[in-house]
Amino acid sequence: MSVSSARFVISNRDYRKCPSPTLPEYAFIGRSNVGKSSLINMLTGKKHLAKTSSTPGKTQLINHFLIDESWYLVDLPGYGYAKTGKARLEGFAEIIRDYIVHRKNLMNLFLLIDIRHEPQKPDLEFIRWLGRNGVPFVIIFTKADKLSKSLVIESRKRYESALLEEWEQSPPIFISSAETRAGKDEILQFIKEANPLFRPPPGKDI
Ligand code: GTP
Ligand code: MG
Repeated sequence: MSVSSARFVISNRDYRKCPSPTLPEYAFIGRSNVGKSSLINMLTGKKHLAKTSSTPGKTQLINHFLIDESWYLVDLPGYGYAKTGKARLEGFAEIIRDYIVHRKNLMNLFLLIDIRHEPQKPDLEFIRWLGRNGVPFVIIFTKADKLSKSLVIESRKRYESALLEEWEQSPPIFISSAETRAGKDEILQFIKEANPLFRPPPGKDI
């Protein structure tokens, strides 16, 4: 699948103000600076669709992008960035948690993890929280261009082992790079297969 059109719709702090949940939706989450916004730009082939920055904490709201007039991609603020300030951080966490738990058309969450990092506490805690809340998610490793092929494989295995210490099975895993566009076809294919499974919520919930 390729993307023909992609446009910004709206930014929100509150999930209740997001677009009516009548189309399937996929959101990107992960620590600040992991590459969420860059991945959205890579998948849509629009370099400046989502705002990116080398300084962590760039995305601060729930941002909706409408793709091919038929599904949404959502760019979320990052979690676990201490310098943002504690009050700010907790504010972000609440915005994100409420959105994930309540958003009726959320088909899947893409949890982004920098392929270079050892399994880290904020991510493992977030995965636990997703498990407790029954949120469907897959893992996307980002910045694969920063490691050799063999180190990418090693890093992935290390992560899977850490997950299998706690879980019976690992979620699906994709490996990506916004630089080389690695992972683009696989991730878009995943979305293409999920889209027909969408059932709009009953009228009273819209
Ligand atoms: P916040 O909005 O602050 O939470 O960050 P984010 O997760 O949206 O990250 P963003 O896409 O803004 O990227 C952060 C930095 O990483 C930028 O300098 C990007 O250019 C860089 N970056 C993102 N993806 C990749 C990648 O695949 N490869 C490389 N080499 N750099 C990347
Ligand atoms: Mg961002």
